[in-house]
Amino acid sequence: YAGVGGSCALLRHKMKQSFWVLLFGSALIVLASAAGSDAGISFEYHRYEELRKALLSVWLQCPTITRIYTIGESFERRELLVLEMSDNPGTHEPGEPEFKYIANMHGNEAVGRELLINLAQYLCNQYQQENETIIDLIHNTRIHIMPSMNPDGFEKAASQPGEIKDWFVGRSNAQGVDLNRNFPDLDRIIYINEREGGANNHLLQNMKKAVDENTKLAPETKAVIHWIMDIPFVLSANLHGGDVVANYPYDETRTGSTHEYSASPDDEMFKSLARAFSMYNPVMSDPHRPPCRKNDDDSSFKDGITNGGAWYSVPGGMQDFNYLSSNCFEITLELSCDKFPNEDTLKTYWQQNRDSLVNYIEQVHRGVKGFVRDLQGNPISNATISVEGIDHDITTAKDGDYWRLLAPGNYKVAASAPGYLTVIKKVAVPYSPATRVDFELESLMERKEEEREELMDWWKMMSETLNF
Ligand SMILES: *[C@@H]1O[C@H](CO)[C@@H](O)[C@H](O)[C@H]1NC(C)=O
Ligand SMILES: *[C@@H]1O[C@H](CO)[C@@H](O)[C@H](O)[C@H]1NC(C)=O
Ligand SMILES: [Zn+2]
Repeated sequence: YAGVGGSCALLRHKMKQSFWVLLFGSALIVLASAAGSDAGISFEYHRYEELRKALLSVWLQCPTITRIYTIGESFERRELLVLEMSDNPGTHEPGEPEFKYIANMHGNEAVGRELLINLAQYLCNQYQQENETIIDLIHNTRIHIMPSMNPDGFEKAASQPGEIKDWFVGRSNAQGVDLNRNFPDLDRIIYINEREGGANNHLLQNMKKAVDENTKLAPETKAVIHWIMDIPFVLSANLHGGDVVANYPYDETRTGSTHEYSASPDDEMFKSLARAFSMYNPVMSDPHRPPCRKNDDDSSFKDGITNGGAWYSVPGGMQDFNYLSSNCFEITLELSCDKFPNEDTLKTYWQQNRDSLVNYIEQVHRGVKGFVRDLQGNPISNATISVEGIDHDITTAKDGDYWRLLAPGNYKVAASAPGYLTVIKKVAVPYSPATRVDFELESLMERKEEEREELMDWWKMMSETLNF
């Protein structure tokens, strides 16, 4: 029996081994799923301190591609925190477009705040797992994520007892200012300029001092205005709640009426951008989705998108301000019928919006992009890029780099700058990626110098020939 006993021991040994293999195997599975796409993503509301910690933990996990910075403080001195994701955090790389997401501008609209925390964690996870799409995105884009523009309002909304929150408590900042009505009303200026002539872009130029001294502007608004002025943003979105739709400019109507389609010169591109978000969100794009509340007027909604003015007029909003004061195209996203829904629904909102949030960032790589330089190869900053038929110019950044978002089509694109000869090029633009078009501008001084030299040569030749 010893033999049998021996094989029995062997069997037991083998069983033990496979037990360990099993145990180790399942541990691996647990590890693998922990490192899966939702790893480290917590589907619960983050109060101010928890928000800081969540951003910090993304930074600790992905230090080479992230940076945390603040653009200023709220009225109650909470920091307006931003997480930046880029292969070179902290610097603008020539030619690389900049993108931003802002949420929770209305402090009681809480879903966007959580979605942006989730997004930061997701991008970091996917980058580490070598997801090609995400690696490309982070290597070719400088992404700025601000989960809360109104941390004071959020604390007020979140500290209400019970799960059901008031529809208005915490909407405004701590001074009672509605931040999405607090931006300088540039629509009024552009509507005059449309009729009477005048600038069609950068309407805040040379008014930075006036902004700083304006006592009606909330500290949160001022901080964001400076941010918009300082970084050459190309595209952004402002995340809200209370409805489900992607809203695009203009928000303020031309006549002042409450509902009126208010097309911007880039109406076609804005519709395309809004759709690029809505079509990946199954709820937003559902043509049979009932209105959030029985009596809501959703008649302007189509494919999950709406023109702002057609829905209801908003003066002093952030969306139109971006477009009219800078090169940045911004849309406004309404992501949930409830502004502050129960915590156990947050995972569902992430699942509904994850692909939309990633796909929308990718839209920054559409249209025409390149550099404007002089004949010696020096960058020309603040050169104007204009597109025939679209009455909204954009300008080049410090390194002469520009990004002109455009819907597919054939265009005539002109680059001009004071003291240089304008260059016009014909460009075919596909849906994506952006077509690269560089411009070399000859300075008028050089041209005069050339002409003078040519004249001198001619004169010399003539005098030699005629011998006088
Ligand atoms: C990579 O990221 C994209 C964009 O978020 C996603 O659609 C895709 O499923 C990811 N791939 C893997 C293998 O997880
Ligand atoms: C940029 O150019 C425009 C017109 O070409 C000019 O009015 C404006 O002052 C310039 N801005 C800066 C910062 O140089
Ligand atoms: Zn809102």
